[in-house]
Amino acid sequence: MVASLRQNRSTAVLIAFLLMTAVLWAAEPVGLADMKVLEFVEKAPGVWLATVGKSDGVTYLSYAGAEPRLGGLGKMSAAGFPLEAKEIVGVTSNNRAIVRIPLKDAEKLYGFGLQFAGINRRGQVLHLRTDHYRRGNERLHAPVPLYVSSNGYAVLFNSPKFISVYAGIGNRWDSPNFPTPKDRNTDRSWPAQPRSDAVEASVIADGMEVIVFAGPTALDAIRRYNLYCGGGALPPKWGLGFWHRMRTHATSDEVVRELDEFEKRNFPLDVIGLEPGWHSKSYPCTYEWNPKLYPNPAEFMKTMNENGVRVNLWENPYVSPDAGIYEAIKPLSGSHTVWLGLVPDFTLEAARKVVSEQHEKEHLSIGVSGYKIDEVDGYDFWLWPDHALFPSGTSAEEMRQTYALQIQKMLMKLFRDRNQRTYGQIRASNAGASAYPFAIYSDHYDHKGFVTAMVNSGFCGVLYTPEIRSAGSSEEWVRRMQSVCFSPLTQLNGWASNTKPWSFADVTNEVREVIQLRMSLLPYIYTTFAKYRFEGTPPIRPMVLEAGYNDEQAVIAGKLDDAKNPYAMAIRKDVSDQFMFGECLLVAPIFVGQKSRSVILPTGKWYDFYTGEYAGGGEVITVTPALNRIPLYVKDGGIIAMIEPVNRISKMTGDVPLTVRHYGEKASRAAVYDDDGKTFDYEKGKYVWLNLEAAKNADDKLHGSVKSLTGSYKSKYKPINWEFMTK
Ligand code: GAL
Repeated sequence: MVASLRQNRSTAVLIAFLLMTAVLWAAEPVGLADMKVLEFVEKAPGVWLATVGKSDGVTYLSYAGAEPRLGGLGKMSAAGFPLEAKEIVGVTSNNRAIVRIPLKDAEKLYGFGLQFAGINRRGQVLHLRTDHYRRGNERLHAPVPLYVSSNGYAVLFNSPKFISVYAGIGNRWDSPNFPTPKDRNTDRSWPAQPRSDAVEASVIADGMEVIVFAGPTALDAIRRYNLYCGGGALPPKWGLGFWHRMRTHATSDEVVRELDEFEKRNFPLDVIGLEPGWHSKSYPCTYEWNPKLYPNPAEFMKTMNENGVRVNLWENPYVSPDAGIYEAIKPLSGSHTVWLGLVPDFTLEAARKVVSEQHEKEHLSIGVSGYKIDEVDGYDFWLWPDHALFPSGTSAEEMRQTYALQIQKMLMKLFRDRNQRTYGQIRASNAGASAYPFAIYSDHYDHKGFVTAMVNSGFCGVLYTPEIRSAGSSEEWVRRMQSVCFSPLTQLNGWASNTKPWSFADVTNEVREVIQLRMSLLPYIYTTFAKYRFEGTPPIRPMVLEAGYNDEQAVIAGKLDDAKNPYAMAIRKDVSDQFMFGECLLVAPIFVGQKSRSVILPTGKWYDFYTGEYAGGGEVITVTPALNRIPLYVKDGGIIAMIEPVNRISKMTGDVPLTVRHYGEKASRAAVYDDDGKTFDYEKGKYVWLNLEAAKNADDKLHGSVKSLTGSYKSKYKPINWEFMTK
């Protein structure tokens, strides 16, 4: 009796246990049906936001202080939600916020930050984290968690955390398009990485914001992203000239002598950058002038400004115990130091105030034009650890992902308060930074990698400079110089090499020629940035964003090869070595050792920039350019406004004759943007668009005119001469 009671009790316990486990099993969100369909709300034309789990409202865009440029967004054509809304699902589980976004079979993915290798990201796993560049596609100067689809939309995971993204990789058993398994025994086309029908991402957090940007084209989606972040950066005109960084520990006398050297050799120079040595102490920094090297900073700055050359100061944000601001910043800093310097918590207004006031008083008030903010990308071995604590309670992880955004925001305010535009450099960034006039740079020095990074910058709302530092030969020097002249910031960084533009004497003319070409293109380049600002169009556009571009031309059918290609897979060349610079210029840099290269020309007609001759269209051409020529092509009807090269942009006074080049056969229109080039008055309407038109006469000949002006600024571009390049 007792035994059977006991037996009954244990059976009951067993049943209860099984029931509970079943309930628990059922509660685990394993299947797609357990995930919640995200509820998207339209925030601006063509921009929708949803949250997985709970969001505390602290996002990349809130860190960046991004304010949507609604005017620009409103001008874009209306667009519906670009995805199957009911297929976007999310869940929170195991401390993670997880989201799944569907993918179509033929879709290609681009973006995920400032990548140095390739552009195609489908089939990649990305644990995105801020870092100085290391090989691989995860630890990046700007790990922007934004992707762009060839189907014409973009998605931002707006969570300032370390994020893991499986971009078209990983197959759920219940996914709507589960691939048919193949048998490796019998089928040579068995894939190790079966195609997946989703992008899945997760962060360790209670929630995550997801923002979807509509197209209809991929370029439109990026434009919406940039406009939603406030529009792109519009640097001052002088920032688009030539930059030269001195070697470390240069003295004020040496800097002034450098101006004479540039003048004597007839080389343009707009900005001089000072590297470590100008602070009384650096690594960590004091932000105070070194009395030995710069005995009279105000006098030095006066000389520089009188010569029309701006000064940019290098610094890292880690505060030396010898800095005057040390005691004030100490209670506002994190638990750990970097190179034994304090790490200010810039989420605190009080911390921003201490640093801003010191910078205003000792730098800006005597004429400093901007900063190069170094080491904000970090490196595990010298940055604050992941468990560091900050007085605001912000986690070390969030600090790492957003530190560069916080600094850009602080500096931007400093300059804005003076109604003075700045242009600077920064070694990290993240989502929301489109409006910040800072170009990212890297210690990495692979020329191809630099060009690829520049191409990828166009997918994620940041600027990048493939700065030139040194070279193994004169040929390499010229080829690198040519690339940097077709970039957002043209800079020779001689901090270690002490190189000058003329360092390779036998190619001095070739180097001067391309720098002067850069200077001549100022109206075109400035207009390119105005379009970034007002329309969100990135100044450097990856080719896949260009209508008529077909990268399938770069796919080579895979040949069966037991050693190299045992599954006869098609070989896709990931083309990242050519790009669009502005509206109509295609740039195809040459790398050292290359005598010729292939260029994929989109459909339509394309013309040689230098001669105006027809180059091809909708085809792959091979070019063999002379050493002084970087291959440049202009699309049919392309209009490029140029000036005579000057040695100092800020010394351009009086009327500036404008030469407007037209290429090809098509009648066309283009606008040239102008404003004072240095203040924010353009935001109050003090700008002008010169609306140009190349039309055909009754005799079918092209002629050009200014059709109208938009805006009230009185441009100094006059007279305007047309040059029809294609005879
Ligand atoms: C590096 C930086 C270089 C140069 C150098 C000076 O971190 O990337 O461009 O500024 O510091 O020490």
